[in-house]
Amino acid sequence: MTKEEFLVTPYTVEGNINYEKLIKKFGTEPIDNILLNRIKKHTGELHFMLKRKIFFCHRDLNWLLNKYENGEKFYIYTGRGPSGKMHLGHLLPFLFTKWLQDKFNCKTIIQITDDEKYLFNNKKLEEYTKQGLENIKDIIAVGLNPKLTEIMIDTYNSKTLYNNAIHFAKRLTISTIKSAFGFNDSYNIGQYFYTSFQAVPAILESVRQGKNIPCLIPLGVDQDPHFRLARDICPKLGYYKPAIIHSRFLPPLQGIEGKMSSSKEETAIFTTDDKETVRKKVMKYAFSGGRKTLEEHRKYGGNPEIDVSYQYLYQLLEPNDKKIKEIHEEYKSGNLLSGELKQIMVKKANEFLEKHQKARRKAEEKIEKFLIKD
Ligand code: TRP
Repeated sequence: MTKEEFLVTPYTVEGNINYEKLIKKFGTEPIDNILLNRIKKHTGELHFMLKRKIFFCHRDLNWLLNKYENGEKFYIYTGRGPSGKMHLGHLLPFLFTKWLQDKFNCKTIIQITDDEKYLFNNKKLEEYTKQGLENIKDIIAVGLNPKLTEIMIDTYNSKTLYNNAIHFAKRLTISTIKSAFGFNDSYNIGQYFYTSFQAVPAILESVRQGKNIPCLIPLGVDQDPHFRLARDICPKLGYYKPAIIHSRFLPPLQGIEGKMSSSKEETAIFTTDDKETVRKKVMKYAFSGGRKTLEEHRKYGGNPEIDVSYQYLYQLLEPNDKKIKEIHEEYKSGNLLSGELKQIMVKKANEFLEKHQKARRKAEEKIEKFLIKD
Protein backbone atom coordinates (compact mmCIF):
# COMPACT_ATOMS: atom_id res chain seq x y z
CA MET A 1 0.00 0.00 0.00
CA THR A 2 1.50 3.36 -1.00
CA LYS A 3 1.21 6.53 1.03
CA GLU A 4 -1.90 7.69 -0.84
CA GLU A 5 -3.71 4.40 -0.59
CA PHE A 6 -6.15 3.39 2.09
CA LEU A 7 -8.82 0.79 2.64
CA VAL A 8 -11.97 1.09 4.72
CA THR A 9 -14.36 -1.84 5.13
CA PRO A 10 -16.05 -3.18 8.26
CA TYR A 11 -13.29 -5.77 8.48
CA THR A 12 -10.18 -3.90 7.37
CA VAL A 13 -9.13 -0.34 8.03
CA GLU A 14 -5.69 0.42 6.64
CA GLY A 15 -3.53 3.30 5.49
CA ASN A 16 -3.78 7.03 5.83
CA ILE A 17 -7.48 7.69 5.39
CA ASN A 18 -8.39 10.63 3.21
CA TYR A 19 -11.93 11.38 4.35
CA GLU A 20 -12.77 13.55 1.36
CA LYS A 21 -11.83 10.79 -1.01
CA LEU A 22 -13.75 8.33 1.13
CA ILE A 23 -16.93 10.38 0.65
CA LYS A 24 -16.50 9.98 -3.12
CA LYS A 25 -15.60 6.30 -2.88
CA PHE A 26 -18.59 5.48 -0.70
CA GLY A 27 -20.98 7.89 -2.39
CA THR A 28 -22.04 9.61 0.81
CA GLU A 29 -22.73 13.33 1.18
CA PRO A 30 -20.51 15.72 3.12
CA ILE A 31 -22.07 17.51 6.07
CA ASP A 32 -22.13 21.18 5.09
CA ASN A 33 -23.07 24.31 6.99
CA ILE A 34 -26.54 24.48 5.48
CA LEU A 35 -27.29 21.07 6.95
CA LEU A 36 -25.69 22.01 10.27
CA ASN A 37 -27.92 25.08 10.49
CA ARG A 38 -30.92 22.96 9.75
CA ILE A 39 -30.01 20.61 12.61
CA LYS A 40 -29.35 23.57 14.88
CA LYS A 41 -32.88 24.83 14.35
CA HIS A 42 -34.08 21.76 16.22
CA THR A 43 -31.31 21.26 18.77
CA GLY A 44 -30.61 24.86 19.78
CA GLU A 45 -26.88 24.23 19.88
CA LEU A 46 -24.63 21.98 17.86
CA HIS A 47 -22.61 19.17 19.35
CA PHE A 48 -18.90 19.89 18.97
CA MET A 49 -18.49 16.68 16.99
CA LEU A 50 -20.81 18.17 14.37
CA LYS A 51 -19.23 21.62 14.37
CA ARG A 52 -15.78 20.08 14.03
CA LYS A 53 -16.88 17.62 11.35
CA ILE A 54 -15.94 14.57 13.40
CA PHE A 55 -19.27 13.38 12.05
CA PHE A 56 -18.34 14.35 8.54
CA CYS A 57 -20.80 12.80 6.10
CA HIS A 58 -24.26 11.28 5.87
CA ARG A 59 -26.92 9.56 3.84
CA ASP A 60 -30.43 11.01 3.66
CA LEU A 61 -30.18 13.33 6.66
CA ASN A 62 -32.20 15.97 4.81
CA TRP A 63 -34.89 13.40 4.12
CA LEU A 64 -34.91 12.50 7.83
CA LEU A 65 -35.32 16.16 8.81
CA ASN A 66 -38.12 16.58 6.25
CA LYS A 67 -39.92 13.72 7.92
CA TYR A 68 -39.22 15.13 11.36
CA GLU A 69 -40.50 18.55 10.39
CA ASN A 70 -43.64 16.87 9.09
CA GLY A 71 -44.25 15.29 12.46
CA GLU A 72 -42.70 11.84 11.88
CA LYS A 73 -40.37 11.14 14.79
CA PHE A 74 -37.32 8.98 14.13
CA TYR A 75 -35.52 6.41 16.24
CA ILE A 76 -31.79 5.79 16.54
CA TYR A 77 -29.95 2.56 15.91
CA THR A 78 -26.28 1.91 16.57
CA GLY A 79 -24.13 -0.99 17.74
CA ARG A 80 -20.94 -2.47 19.03
CA GLY A 81 -18.97 -5.55 18.06
CA PRO A 82 -17.59 -6.86 21.36
CA SER A 83 -14.16 -7.93 20.11
CA GLY A 84 -12.45 -6.66 23.26
CA LYS A 85 -12.36 -3.92 25.85
CA MET A 86 -13.61 -0.52 24.74
CA HIS A 87 -11.25 2.39 24.17
CA LEU A 88 -11.87 6.10 23.83
CA GLY A 89 -12.45 5.84 20.08
CA HIS A 90 -15.25 3.33 20.59
CA LEU A 91 -17.09 5.77 22.86
CA LEU A 92 -17.33 8.48 20.24
CA PRO A 93 -20.50 7.32 18.42
CA PHE A 94 -22.17 6.49 21.73
CA LEU A 95 -21.48 9.92 23.22
CA PHE A 96 -22.99 11.46 20.12
CA THR A 97 -25.93 9.06 20.26
CA LYS A 98 -26.64 10.17 23.83
CA TRP A 99 -26.71 13.79 22.69
CA LEU A 100 -29.08 12.98 19.82
CA GLN A 101 -31.29 10.99 22.15
CA ASP A 102 -31.59 13.94 24.53
CA LYS A 103 -32.14 16.53 21.83
CA PHE A 104 -34.72 14.62 19.81
CA ASN A 105 -36.09 12.52 22.65
CA CYS A 106 -35.75 9.39 20.52
CA LYS A 107 -36.07 5.78 21.15
CA THR A 108 -32.70 4.06 20.69
CA ILE A 109 -31.77 0.49 19.79
CA ILE A 110 -28.23 -0.78 20.37
CA GLN A 111 -27.07 -4.05 18.89
CA ILE A 112 -24.25 -6.06 20.49
CA THR A 113 -22.88 -8.43 17.88
CA ASP A 114 -21.27 -11.27 19.81
CA ASP A 115 -22.18 -13.62 16.93
CA GLU A 116 -20.31 -11.42 14.46
CA LYS A 117 -17.13 -11.37 16.50
CA TYR A 118 -17.35 -15.16 16.89
CA LEU A 119 -17.77 -15.66 13.15
CA PHE A 120 -14.83 -13.41 12.32
CA ASN A 121 -12.37 -14.19 15.12
CA ASN A 122 -10.90 -17.01 17.12
CA LYS A 123 -12.25 -17.02 20.65
CA LYS A 124 -15.16 -19.03 22.03
CA LEU A 125 -18.64 -17.60 21.50
CA GLU A 126 -19.19 -17.30 25.27
CA GLU A 127 -16.20 -15.04 25.56
CA TYR A 128 -17.65 -12.56 23.08
CA THR A 129 -21.00 -12.63 24.87
CA LYS A 130 -19.21 -11.92 28.15
CA GLN A 131 -17.20 -9.16 26.55
CA GLY A 132 -20.46 -7.75 25.20
CA LEU A 133 -21.84 -7.51 28.73
CA GLU A 134 -18.68 -5.65 29.78
CA ASN A 135 -19.01 -3.28 26.82
CA ILE A 136 -22.64 -2.62 27.72
CA LYS A 137 -21.45 -1.03 30.97
CA ASP A 138 -19.43 1.47 28.95
CA ILE A 139 -22.37 2.15 26.69
CA ILE A 140 -24.77 2.73 29.59
CA ALA A 141 -22.13 4.91 31.27
CA VAL A 142 -22.40 7.57 28.55
CA GLY A 143 -25.78 8.40 30.11
CA LEU A 144 -28.37 6.80 27.84
CA ASN A 145 -31.92 6.94 29.16
CA PRO A 146 -33.12 3.45 30.19
CA LYS A 147 -36.70 4.41 29.35
CA LEU A 148 -35.76 5.13 25.76
CA THR A 149 -32.96 2.63 25.15
CA GLU A 150 -33.00 -1.06 24.30
CA ILE A 151 -29.88 -3.14 24.04
CA MET A 152 -30.05 -6.30 21.95
CA ILE A 153 -27.41 -8.98 22.28
CA ASP A 154 -27.48 -11.01 19.09
CA THR A 155 -27.34 -14.42 20.76
CA TYR A 156 -29.98 -13.40 23.33
CA ASN A 157 -32.33 -11.91 20.75
CA SER A 158 -31.76 -14.39 17.99
CA LYS A 159 -35.43 -15.09 17.36
CA THR A 160 -36.38 -11.49 16.60
CA LEU A 161 -33.22 -11.02 14.62
CA TYR A 162 -33.35 -14.23 12.61
CA ASN A 163 -37.01 -13.93 11.71
CA ASN A 164 -36.37 -10.53 10.17
CA ALA A 165 -32.86 -11.22 8.87
CA ILE A 166 -34.13 -13.88 6.46
CA HIS A 167 -35.90 -11.18 4.45
CA PHE A 168 -32.59 -9.44 3.88
CA ALA A 169 -30.70 -12.71 3.39
CA LYS A 170 -33.08 -13.79 0.66
CA ARG A 171 -32.21 -10.67 -1.30
CA LEU A 172 -28.44 -10.73 -0.80
CA THR A 173 -26.36 -12.79 -3.21
CA ILE A 174 -22.92 -14.21 -2.60
CA SER A 175 -21.48 -11.99 -5.32
CA THR A 176 -22.92 -8.84 -3.73
CA ILE A 177 -21.34 -9.71 -0.38
CA LYS A 178 -18.05 -10.57 -2.04
CA SER A 179 -17.78 -7.24 -3.79
CA ALA A 180 -18.97 -5.20 -0.78
CA PHE A 181 -16.57 -6.78 1.73
CA GLY A 182 -13.80 -8.35 -0.34
CA PHE A 183 -14.61 -11.90 0.82
CA ASN A 184 -13.54 -14.95 -1.18
CA ASP A 185 -14.58 -18.62 -1.26
CA SER A 186 -12.66 -19.47 1.90
CA TYR A 187 -14.91 -17.31 4.12
CA ASN A 188 -17.43 -19.22 6.23
CA ILE A 189 -21.13 -19.03 5.41
CA GLY A 190 -21.91 -17.27 8.70
CA GLN A 191 -19.76 -14.37 7.56
CA TYR A 192 -21.75 -14.17 4.36
CA PHE A 193 -25.01 -14.22 6.31
CA TYR A 194 -24.02 -11.76 9.02
CA THR A 195 -24.90 -8.50 7.21
CA SER A 196 -28.54 -9.52 7.22
CA PHE A 197 -28.40 -9.65 11.04
CA GLN A 198 -26.94 -6.17 11.30
CA ALA A 199 -29.66 -4.85 8.97
CA VAL A 200 -32.60 -5.87 11.17
CA PRO A 201 -32.62 -3.11 13.81
CA ALA A 202 -32.80 -0.58 10.95
CA ILE A 203 -36.39 -1.71 10.28
CA LEU A 204 -37.32 -3.20 13.65
CA GLU A 205 -39.32 -0.27 14.98
CA SER A 206 -41.37 -0.22 11.79
CA VAL A 207 -41.95 -3.97 12.00
CA ARG A 208 -43.11 -3.65 15.57
CA GLN A 209 -45.41 -0.69 15.06
CA GLY A 210 -46.77 -1.91 11.76
CA LYS A 211 -46.01 1.39 10.07
CA ASN A 212 -42.92 3.09 8.72
CA ILE A 213 -40.79 4.86 11.34
CA PRO A 214 -37.70 6.74 10.12
CA CYS A 215 -34.39 5.48 11.50
CA LEU A 216 -31.07 7.27 11.98
CA ILE A 217 -27.85 5.29 12.36
CA PRO A 218 -24.78 7.05 13.82
CA LEU A 219 -21.71 4.92 13.09
CA GLY A 220 -17.99 4.80 12.47
CA VAL A 221 -17.60 5.14 8.71
CA ASP A 222 -16.18 1.61 8.32
CA GLN A 223 -19.68 0.23 8.99
CA ASP A 224 -21.23 1.96 6.00
CA PRO A 225 -20.97 -1.00 3.56
CA HIS A 226 -23.37 -3.09 5.66
CA PHE A 227 -26.01 -0.40 5.38
CA ARG A 228 -25.37 0.36 1.75
CA LEU A 229 -26.61 -3.15 1.14
CA ALA A 230 -29.43 -2.92 3.68
CA ARG A 231 -30.61 0.38 2.22
CA ASP A 232 -31.03 -1.21 -1.21
CA ILE A 233 -33.25 -3.89 0.26
CA CYS A 234 -35.42 -1.92 2.72
CA PRO A 235 -37.74 -0.43 0.07
CA LYS A 236 -38.21 -3.87 -1.47
CA LEU A 237 -39.53 -4.98 1.91
CA GLY A 238 -41.79 -1.94 2.13
CA TYR A 239 -39.66 -0.01 4.65
CA TYR A 240 -37.86 3.31 4.64
CA LYS A 241 -34.15 3.32 4.03
CA PRO A 242 -32.36 4.24 7.25
CA ALA A 243 -30.54 7.59 7.30
CA ILE A 244 -26.90 7.44 8.35
CA ILE A 245 -24.41 9.82 9.93
CA HIS A 246 -20.76 8.78 9.74
CA SER A 247 -17.86 9.56 12.06
CA ARG A 248 -14.13 9.62 11.50
CA PHE A 249 -11.85 7.45 13.60
CA LEU A 250 -9.88 8.56 16.59
CA PRO A 251 -6.30 7.74 15.56
CA PRO A 252 -4.19 5.12 17.34
CA LEU A 253 -1.71 6.63 19.79
CA GLN A 254 1.14 5.83 17.41
CA GLY A 255 -0.16 8.06 14.65
CA ILE A 256 -2.86 8.94 12.21
CA GLU A 257 -2.70 5.90 9.98
CA GLY A 258 -5.58 3.54 10.55
CA LYS A 259 -7.95 2.79 13.36
CA MET A 260 -7.17 1.90 16.95
CA SER A 261 -7.12 -1.76 17.67
CA SER A 262 -8.29 -3.21 20.94
CA SER A 263 -5.95 -6.14 20.54
CA LYS A 264 -2.87 -4.00 21.10
CA GLU A 265 -2.70 -2.52 24.60
CA GLU A 266 -0.30 0.28 23.76
CA THR A 267 -2.20 1.65 20.73
CA ALA A 268 -5.19 2.95 22.65
CA ILE A 269 -6.48 4.38 25.92
CA PHE A 270 -9.02 1.97 27.32
CA THR A 271 -12.04 3.11 29.31
CA THR A 272 -10.79 1.13 32.29
CA ASP A 273 -7.17 2.38 32.25
CA ASP A 274 -6.02 3.99 35.50
CA LYS A 275 -4.44 7.42 35.69
CA GLU A 276 -0.86 6.23 35.75
CA THR A 277 -1.38 3.91 32.78
CA VAL A 278 -2.90 6.76 30.78
CA ARG A 279 0.02 9.02 31.62
CA LYS A 280 2.61 6.42 30.70
CA LYS A 281 0.93 5.47 27.42
CA VAL A 282 0.61 9.06 26.28
CA MET A 283 4.12 10.07 27.30
CA LYS A 284 5.68 7.02 25.71
CA TYR A 285 3.56 6.35 22.63
CA ALA A 286 1.46 9.35 21.59
CA PHE A 287 2.76 10.52 18.23
CA SER A 288 3.90 14.10 18.38
CA GLY A 289 3.61 16.82 15.77
CA GLY A 290 6.40 18.76 17.44
CA ARG A 291 9.82 19.63 16.03
CA LYS A 292 13.01 17.72 16.61
CA THR A 293 14.66 20.27 18.85
CA LEU A 294 13.35 22.82 21.30
CA GLU A 295 14.90 25.60 19.25
CA GLU A 296 13.23 24.52 16.02
CA HIS A 297 9.94 24.06 17.82
CA ARG A 298 10.03 27.57 19.25
CA LYS A 299 10.98 28.94 15.85
CA TYR A 300 8.68 27.01 13.48
CA GLY A 301 5.98 25.65 15.79
CA GLY A 302 4.29 22.24 15.94
CA ASN A 303 1.76 20.60 13.63
CA PRO A 304 -1.54 19.97 15.45
CA GLU A 305 -3.07 18.15 12.45
CA ILE A 306 -0.79 15.13 12.93
CA ASP A 307 -0.29 15.44 16.68
CA VAL A 308 -2.22 12.64 18.33
CA SER A 309 -2.61 14.40 21.69
CA TYR A 310 -4.11 17.39 19.92
CA GLN A 311 -6.41 15.15 17.88
CA TYR A 312 -7.74 13.45 21.02
CA LEU A 313 -8.48 16.85 22.52
CA TYR A 314 -10.10 18.08 19.31
CA GLN A 315 -12.20 15.02 18.61
CA LEU A 316 -13.23 14.09 22.12
CA LEU A 317 -11.68 15.58 25.22
CA GLU A 318 -11.89 19.38 24.84
CA PRO A 319 -15.41 20.37 23.81
CA ASN A 320 -14.76 24.04 24.62
CA ASP A 321 -14.24 25.83 21.29
CA LYS A 322 -12.32 28.74 22.74
CA LYS A 323 -9.92 26.51 24.61
CA ILE A 324 -9.23 24.19 21.69
CA LYS A 325 -8.55 27.18 19.45
CA GLU A 326 -6.11 28.54 21.99
CA ILE A 327 -4.25 25.23 22.20
CA HIS A 328 -4.13 25.09 18.39
CA GLU A 329 -2.66 28.56 18.14
CA GLU A 330 -0.17 28.12 20.97
CA TYR A 331 1.09 24.84 19.55
CA LYS A 332 1.35 26.13 16.00
CA SER A 333 3.23 29.20 17.10
CA GLY A 334 5.74 27.18 19.10
CA ASN A 335 4.77 28.61 22.48
CA LEU A 336 3.33 25.30 23.59
CA LEU A 337 5.76 22.37 23.58
CA SER A 338 4.92 18.75 22.76
CA GLY A 339 5.51 17.63 26.33
CA GLU A 340 3.22 20.36 27.60
CA LEU A 341 0.52 19.44 25.10
CA LYS A 342 0.76 15.82 26.21
CA GLN A 343 0.28 16.91 29.80
CA ILE A 344 -2.87 18.83 28.90
CA MET A 345 -4.21 15.77 27.13
CA VAL A 346 -3.34 13.41 30.02
CA LYS A 347 -5.12 15.68 32.45
CA LYS A 348 -8.22 15.90 30.25
CA ALA A 349 -8.24 12.16 29.55
CA ASN A 350 -7.99 11.34 33.23
CA GLU A 351 -10.76 13.76 34.15
CA PHE A 352 -12.93 12.22 31.47
CA LEU A 353 -12.14 8.68 32.60
CA GLU A 354 -12.71 9.39 36.25
CA LYS A 355 -16.27 10.41 35.47
CA HIS A 356 -16.75 7.58 33.02
CA GLN A 357 -15.45 4.92 35.39
CA LYS A 358 -17.73 6.10 38.14
CA ALA A 359 -20.74 5.89 35.83
CA ARG A 360 -19.49 2.53 34.58
CA ARG A 361 -19.50 1.08 38.09
CA LYS A 362 -23.05 2.29 38.62
CA ALA A 363 -24.06 0.85 35.26
CA GLU A 364 -23.47 -2.69 36.51
CA GLU A 365 -26.77 -2.73 38.37
CA LYS A 366 -28.67 -1.14 35.51
CA ILE A 367 -27.86 -3.63 32.75
CA GLU A 368 -31.10 -5.58 33.16
CA LYS A 369 -33.15 -2.44 32.58
CA PHE A 370 -31.65 -2.05 29.13
CA LEU A 371 -31.78 -5.61 27.83
CA ILE A 372 -34.85 -6.74 25.95
CA LYS A 373 -36.49 -10.15 26.03
CA ASP A 374 -37.00 -12.02 22.81
N1 TRP B 1 -20.50 -4.43 13.30
C1 TRP B 1 -20.33 -3.43 14.30
C2 TRP B 1 -18.92 -3.58 14.94
O1 TRP B 1 -18.20 -4.50 14.67
C3 TRP B 1 -21.38 -3.50 15.37
C4 TRP B 1 -22.69 -2.95 14.92
C5 TRP B 1 -23.87 -3.63 14.79
C6 TRP B 1 -22.98 -1.59 14.54
N2 TRP B 1 -24.86 -2.83 14.37
C7 TRP B 1 -24.35 -1.56 14.21
C8 TRP B 1 -22.22 -0.42 14.50
C9 TRP B 1 -24.97 -0.37 13.82
C10 TRP B 1 -22.83 0.76 14.08
C11 TRP B 1 -24.19 0.78 13.76
O2 TRP B 1 -18.54 -2.76 15.74
